[in-house]
Amino acid sequence: MSDELDYDDELHPGEDLKEVKKKELGDLSVVVDDVHITYRVFGGKRGGTAGIKPSLVSRMLEAGRPKPPVTHVKAVRGVSFTARRGEAVAIVGHNGSGKSTLLRAVAGLLPPTSGTIYTASEPALLGVNAALMPKLTGERNIVVGGLALGLNYKEVQENVQNVADFAELGDFLYLPMNAYSSGMSSRLRFAISTITTPDILMIDEALGTGDAAFRAKSTERVEMVRENAGTIFFVSHSLAQVRKICTRALWLDQGKLVMDDDVEVVADAYEVFMRNRKKARSGGKVV
Ligand SMILES: Nc1ncnc2c1ncn2[C@@H]1O[C@H](COP(=O)(O)OP(=O)(O)O)[C@@H](O)[C@H]1O
Ligand SMILES: [Mg+2]
Repeated sequence: MSDELDYDDELHPGEDLKEVKKKELGDLSVVVDDVHITYRVFGGKRGGTAGIKPSLVSRMLEAGRPKPPVTHVKAVRGVSFTARRGEAVAIVGHNGSGKSTLLRAVAGLLPPTSGTIYTASEPALLGVNAALMPKLTGERNIVVGGLALGLNYKEVQENVQNVADFAELGDFLYLPMNAYSSGMSSRLRFAISTITTPDILMIDEALGTGDAAFRAKSTERVEMVRENAGTIFFVSHSLAQVRKICTRALWLDQGKLVMDDDVEVVADAYEVFMRNRKKARSGGKVV
């Protein structure tokens, strides 16, 4: 996916960008305290281990053997913030700035290398990122996803058709998911993840898919979660969507938190930054 802003989407006429409802802040739901996340990548270039001293035992074991090259990628570097119930928090930043990594860590899918994450309830990273099983039919994936989100079998059964309708699967419901278009699978992922109204809902670039009607439908669902005093984390390339849905935004750059403020303040600053970056890249020419 390109890391440029979705300018087109931003210029949609008639979209009310100021539709941020200020609400009284609820209880703390997420606390992220000085979190660092480093990926170890094997088979990369040599010399990436600088700064990490191997133990005596490992040095003895390694003696005389060619070392497998390991690179350390510092994806998140010392990020701290708190989020409350009723807040919808956008995470902006260009590609590779650590947004997905941070969300996965808050969802408990990835342990931080250092630092601590507290959550008031188990976040349903909802499964917008969740792995659906390509060999299973849409219907089976809805069942598995629903069970994973804590519904019992009967509740899941009652929801299958709703989810399929919401995702606009049509006859594909009973076909294996590897026959689905990517739009169809991401619609299904979104629909499954909102079967229940989760306390902490995380949406990582999953709302931009589909046509305007589907986007409107999903935005409505997200609003529902927020109104039920849940907390939303939202990553999207469309700043218009970010402004519309979120109350607050965090800006990550190279794994560091560079701004944490009202969504309008951050979105304005980020927009200026991205425009300048684009200009600089095109050699100063206005594009
Ligand atoms: N599984 C992984 N293994 C190694 N490096 C990764 C992995 N996932 C992401 N990275 C790296 O971590 C950094 C942050 O990535 P990511 O969290 O996906 O950023 P974003 O979601 O903002 O695009 C990038 O440099 C990326 O290349
Ligand atoms: Mg990402």
